[in-house]
Amino acid sequence: PRVAVILAGGEGRRLWPASTPQRPKQFLRLFGGRTLLEATWERARAVPDLEDVWVVTGAPYAELTRSALPDLPAEHLVIEPSAKNTAPALALVTGYLSRRYGDAAVLVLPADHYIPDVAAFAAAADRALAVAASQDALVTFGIEPTRPETQYGYIELDEPAPPAPPAPPAPSPATPASPAVAAPASRQDGRVAGGGAGDPAADHGAASRMGSRDGAAASGPVSAGGGADRACRVRRFVEKPGPEQAAAFLASGRYLWNSGMFAWRNAVFRAELEAVAPELARLARRVAAGEAQAAWEPDWHALPAISVDYAVLERARSIYCIRAGFAWDDLGSWLAVDRHGPRDAHGNVVLGGAPAVVQRSSGVTVLAEDVPAVVMGVRDLILAATRDGVLVAGKDSLAGLRQALDALAARL
Ligand code: GDD
Ligand code: MG
Repeated sequence: PRVAVILAGGEGRRLWPASTPQRPKQFLRLFGGRTLLEATWERARAVPDLEDVWVVTGAPYAELTRSALPDLPAEHLVIEPSAKNTAPALALVTGYLSRRYGDAAVLVLPADHYIPDVAAFAAAADRALAVAASQDALVTFGIEPTRPETQYGYIELDEPAPPAPPAPPAPSPATPASPAVAAPASRQDGRVAGGGAGDPAADHGAASRMGSRDGAAASGPVSAGGGADRACRVRRFVEKPGPEQAAAFLASGRYLWNSGMFAWRNAVFRAELEAVAPELARLARRVAAGEAQAAWEPDWHALPAISVDYAVLERARSIYCIRAGFAWDDLGSWLAVDRHGPRDAHGNVVLGGAPAVVQRSSGVTVLAEDVPAVVMGVRDLILAATRDGVLVAGKDSLAGLRQALDALAARL
């Protein structure tokens, strides 16, 4: 079967004071309408042939999650004993998935994304799950980078993105059938680190068979076309590089951003855990064996808090990447809210339930949540006021927000 897992337990500190530990970003209606979690759920429901959607979050958010997602069956809500970031969260879920399904093709979805084109997302997720089903590899969704962002993971492709295949003699020039997985050139590639014991040639054969099926699907209206959705081998994965490294990655043209969404077979993810994170593998094994929470919980509390990007992706033996081919952003920071919020003629974004007057200002993002606001004669800043606090920040200063919040916490 195919299942999705929504990661919904983060604290969203970079959106303070809108996002707080009591009500983090996934439960916010940033632009009115639905919460980010509801939007993620609806995107997951659009993926073809998905049997179930699971959600993993922390105990403080269980109630918020249930009321945001009334259709989520109780047995598909996994509650972590404490916040340990995404690697332990996924190890825990993977144990439950093994117990429930044996193996399954799993789509991992963060709950803080902006993806307006649901149909294009669903088509890409369909391809990623198909690649995951046929390859012993973790599948990432690569995003074309546009700035030296230091808050994302970077994916180095094993070889330059494959050119669009020559147009077939077929009558439909706009939709060349393209294999889902890059040409078997990487078969001869000595740099391929993983592949493991498996026969890569056989892998590629399987993927090509699957690819022809995908090629047929690619003639639908949501295809990015031009080979944009073909899977490539990943040479390495670098989570949140420093500014110089990020700039070098961008300049090289060989890197894509990691979207934070993944597809893999549950058994493949567990095998990667066994190889690179034995303490996480052990947790998954105990949960898969049906041990009671009281039995495995001491193991949980001994785990380090670490994201799946550092714990698994940076060390994984075999990773593929499909190009996302749809508009995407991570709505986890004020700059992202500023990029996507509704703008007036002066580039101001005014959000929130309380009245706000903005005069002689430009490039200002204002959130007036519980108190009214007046903003006059300023440029390029973020002003967010809620009952939990006030943030006034130059747009180019936001990288320091986490540290500033640490300093604030020390005084509270
Ligand atoms: N259940 C659970 N438990 N979920 C968590 C936890 C936790 O302890 N911590 C974070 N999450 C959830 C968040 O709610 C979010 O939906 C998702 O996991 C990702 O966490 P973020 O904290 O937003 O990660 P990030 O944005 O810094 O980095 C990730 O996403 C980037 C793109 O959006 C990485 O995957 C990067 O490589 C990637 O570029
Ligand atoms: Mg994020």
